[in-house]
Amino acid sequence: MTDVTIISGSTLGSAEYVAEHLAGIIEQQGHTANVLHGPELEELIPQGVWLIVSSTHGAGDLPDNLQPLFEQLAAEQPSLAGVKYGAIGIGSSEYDTFCGAIDSIDRQMIERGASRVGTILKIDITQHEIPEDPAEEWVKSWIELI
Ligand SMILES: Cc1cc2nc3c(=O)[nH]c(=O)nc-3n(C[C@H](O)[C@H](O)[C@H](O)COP(=O)(O)O)c2cc1C
Repeated sequence: MTDVTIISGSTLGSAEYVAEHLAGIIEQQGHTANVLHGPELEELIPQGVWLIVSSTHGAGDLPDNLQPLFEQLAAEQPSLAGVKYGAIGIGSSEYDTFCGAIDSIDRQMIERGASRVGTILKIDITQHEIPEDPAEEWVKSWIELI
C-alpha cells in the first residue's frame, strides 16, 4: 500500500477536480491519498510519494496557488531526495507554452533531488473535454510503478 500526497495547482478548478478524482481512483486501488490544493512547504513532508497535478496560466506560468510553494523551494532549497513523484499537466495546445508549468515544476523537483516515476502526462483540453479520463488511465499504470 502506498500513501500518496496529491498536490494540485489550479486557478479555475479543472486541475483540482482531476486531483480529487485521482484520489478516488488511487484509493480504489487499495492505496491512500491526501489532496492538498496549493499547499505551502510547511504542509508537506519532504519524503514519500507525491503526485503533482497542475494547470498552466499566464504564458507558461504556474497557477497562483502553487507559486508560493515553488518560490519557497527555490529560496530555501530543501532536499527532496526522499520524494518520488508523478507529474500531470493540464493546458491548452492553443498556447505556445503548452503545459509550461508542469515542465517548470518537473525541473525544480529534479533540482531538489526528487525522483520522477513515469513520464509526465500532459492533458490538452482541446483534445479532452473531460481531463479526468486520460488522467485516470495514466494513474492506474503510474501507481503500479511506485
Ligand atoms: C489566461 C489564461 C492563460 C493560459 N495560459 C496557458 C499556457 O500558457 N499554456 C497552457 O498550456 N495553457 C494555458 N491556459 C489554459 C489552461 O491551462 C486550461 O484552461 C486549464 O484547463 C485551466 O485549468 P485550471 O482551471 O485548473 O486552472 C491558459 C488559460 C487562461 C485562461
